Amino acid sequence: MNLSGPLYFLLLTLTFFSCSKNAPSVCPADGVLYQQAAFPIGAAVNPIRLNHVSEYNRIAKGQFNSWTTENIMKPENMHPEPDVYNWIEADALADSCRQYGIRLHGHTLLWHQALPDWIVNGRGTRAEWRQILKDHVRTIVGHFKGRVASWDVVNEAFNEDGTLRNSIWRQLIGDDYIELAFAYAREADPNVLLFYNDYNLESNPQKRAAVHDLLNRLRSRGIQVDGIGLQMHVRLHEPNASEMTACFSEFAADHYKIHLSELDISVNPLSKVISDKASLFTEQAQYLEQIIRCYQQVPAALQYGITFWGVSDADSWIPAFYNREDYPLLYDQQYVPKPAYCLLKKIL
Ligand code: XIL
Repeated sequence: MNLSGPLYFLLLTLTFFSCSKNAPSVCPADGVLYQQAAFPIGAAVNPIRLNHVSEYNRIAKGQFNSWTTENIMKPENMHPEPDVYNWIEADALADSCRQYGIRLHGHTLLWHQALPDWIVNGRGTRAEWRQILKDHVRTIVGHFKGRVASWDVVNEAFNEDGTLRNSIWRQLIGDDYIELAFAYAREADPNVLLFYNDYNLESNPQKRAAVHDLLNRLRSRGIQVDGIGLQMHVRLHEPNASEMTACFSEFAADHYKIHLSELDISVNPLSKVISDKASLFTEQAQYLEQIIRCYQQVPAALQYGITFWGVSDADSWIPAFYNREDYPLLYDQQYVPKPAYCLLKKIL
């Protein structure tokens, strides 16, 4: 192929820009997201990145006013042996939150994953495990009393068909492990807000009804669950606006606070080879706008906030966990704002 001078130059320039590491920012990175929002804007954070990646640290502190502990409060990290609790990293995080005026959301006291071996392989009587559950919940909630604003007390306890997942806690204690966990958490800190957290509740009305029934049942027995965490690990255009609105309004009707607790938007759920990132990023921003517009319909007193599950695409759990190329967050891998970030600045 014979390329004339100007055409060759144009091609070189295009190649340089498409391969260059730092994509040009699509909007200025100035401003403060949370100051523009009527509700808290959060991120899941990780102390290693906070301590070692300066851009991450700057954005996590500068743009977000709520942090969720991505992994450090999960039982395998926080309670690795029956008599060992790891407080150091979470205490340091709580200190930073206090220093920078950031709300701290604890994630998570009970889950079927991220469990230490001594729980996974748990043996013993129901009474013994009730006591273990009590100690686990009361020790952790008590330790962070006054420093953690809210907890995901129980995470992902339901199957997709609305039955209870047969987690190790259920096997050892019985169905009432959930009720007990909320009751112990409340005893340990009467002022902390308690959440039940799960996924697919927007797209699966059967699962949602089961969760909603549980929360109402606990309430009728005097155990107040303050809110629902909707994880929202979503993909482009699913769930749709009417599914989200139905879900948000059902929980709001019973006055549960609504936390979009782990938001990320996959642009490549089917693991394809991505050829046109720019248009996917535009679609991602458009879909985020739908999510925000639906959330803005929730009564202000029930908007607990929107938490993104990470800061930049370099920190997202999705590529590693699902072994695929993906770009689910507000900043690109070099911490440059993406169209989704620019959209937020416009509509919050
Ligand atoms: C993920 C973390 O982001 C990863 O770093 C970890 O390897 C696995 O867990 N639902 C949850 C979160 O409630 O705790 C999960 O976090 C993502 C799915």
